[in-house]
Amino acid sequence: MRSVRGLVPAVLAAGVLLSCGGAFAASAEKGKAAFIQHGCWQCHGMQGQGSTAGPKLAPDAMPIETFTAFVRTTNRAMPPYSEAILSNGDLEDIHAYLQTIPKPAESIPLLNQ
Ligand code: HEC
Repeated sequence: MRSVRGLVPAVLAAGVLLSCGGAFAASAEKGKAAFIQHGCWQCHGMQGQGSTAGPKLAPDAMPIETFTAFVRTTNRAMPPYSEAILSNGDLEDIHAYLQTIPKPAESIPLLNQ
């Protein structure tokens, strides 16, 4: 019995460590939901393709470090998102979602005639 009790905190601690594991936990599916929930799509488009209100974010999403630094500290046309509004986990998920967006086809045959 004693040894089992001792195991519980150890397992919990391992769980916390794993959930802080950044890239490990990032989910593109959750990221898409967060991208919608936090209104990113309103300026950057549903596929991160950009619009008149914001530049394109995908394909070729910027590295996670640059991405996070920008979203947290920007103070120009885009409002900064603090951790209180948008958690690190959600931000990593959004980045994972942007990374799944495929590049457009190289060329459209009809336009090459
Ligand atoms: C109100 C419109 C608006 C919203 C909402 C918005 N953005 Fe932006 N975003 C911009 C604009 C405009 C820029 C161009 C840089 C600037 O002037 O701030 C930008 C730039 C960026 C960039 C840098 C792109 C580059 O190539 O330099 C990233 C990354 C980004 N946004 C991510 C996000 C994410 C993630 C969200 C949602 C959490 C979001 N944005 C929500 C308007 C918006």
